[in-house]
Amino acid sequence: MDLWLDTDPGFDDWMAWLLMESVPGWRLHGVSVVAGNAPLETTLGNALRIKSLHGLATPVYAGCDRPLAQPQVTAQDVLGIDGMASTGRRLDVPPAAVSAGHGVTALIDAVRANPGRITLLAVGPLTNVATAFLLAPDLPGLLKSLVIMGGSTVGGNATAAAEFNIHADPEAAAQVFGSGTTVRMFGLNICKQLRVGDAHVQRLRAAGSDEAGVMGDYLDGYVDIGRRQGRTAQSLYDPTPVIYLAHPGRFELRMGRVDIELSGRHTRGMTVCDLRGPALARANAMVAMEATRGPELVDWAMERLAARLAR
Ligand code: BDR
Ligand code: CA
Repeated sequence: MDLWLDTDPGFDDWMAWLLMESVPGWRLHGVSVVAGNAPLETTLGNALRIKSLHGLATPVYAGCDRPLAQPQVTAQDVLGIDGMASTGRRLDVPPAAVSAGHGVTALIDAVRANPGRITLLAVGPLTNVATAFLLAPDLPGLLKSLVIMGGSTVGGNATAAAEFNIHADPEAAAQVFGSGTTVRMFGLNICKQLRVGDAHVQRLRAAGSDEAGVMGDYLDGYVDIGRRQGRTAQSLYDPTPVIYLAHPGRFELRMGRVDIELSGRHTRGMTVCDLRGPALARANAMVAMEATRGPELVDWAMERLAARLAR
């Protein structure tokens, strides 16, 4: 499978990325970084340290540093200044070099060079993807598929109505959902079915290497987000669509219409999901609804990561 990752690392972004690098037969053409969990300078720095820590060859490009229309928001209030939910641990490796060129241009070039082949996975605010679609209107039609972590059928996390990636750039999300391509949406509702907890932290640490120790500590910080809210486990956000790409038969996706609320006083950034039959005439999305035996799927992802980290 040929892939491109658009991301705002973010610890769960890191897991999604490393998982993509760990599935046999998959080829990740590039990573474009966007502002989201933290300002671009920070998410890019995180990406370049992740690349360095794991010795990854995939080129990393700097993308857009602010939303299309609204003032910037980040998730640093929840995830800390580095946007990585670290509990004291720092990624203290020297950063790898950033690749030349803008992330949006690199994405456009990669898709045009591989027409009909690239699956674009976007796990941050959709600013880079929307900008690519605005600059290259042929792009949606040249993708194999577009898969996102974002949105929700059941209420938000950034606000009562909006999931963070949509909340951080609603105009970009509206552009992407209106692009004419079918968006495969993995929102909060499906990610709640794939959770990580203490056993997964132990599993990563048990891989034994320094890399595994670092990642295990960060996973502990990520699980802590849930612990602080009285839960023993935390939704596995960005890796969930990666798991779907490896196990498509284990997910039920429903065809429907998703519109982005842009003007609601209490609901801006909401993904309004019309999954009634009549919406099919205007369908623009496949919305992930159910995962079969979610805990097994999480175990699969952890085993893949542990095997990669033990090398
Ligand atoms: C999404 O927001 C970010 O904080 C995570 O990385 C994920 O992409 C979950 O709402
Ligand atoms: Ca993310």
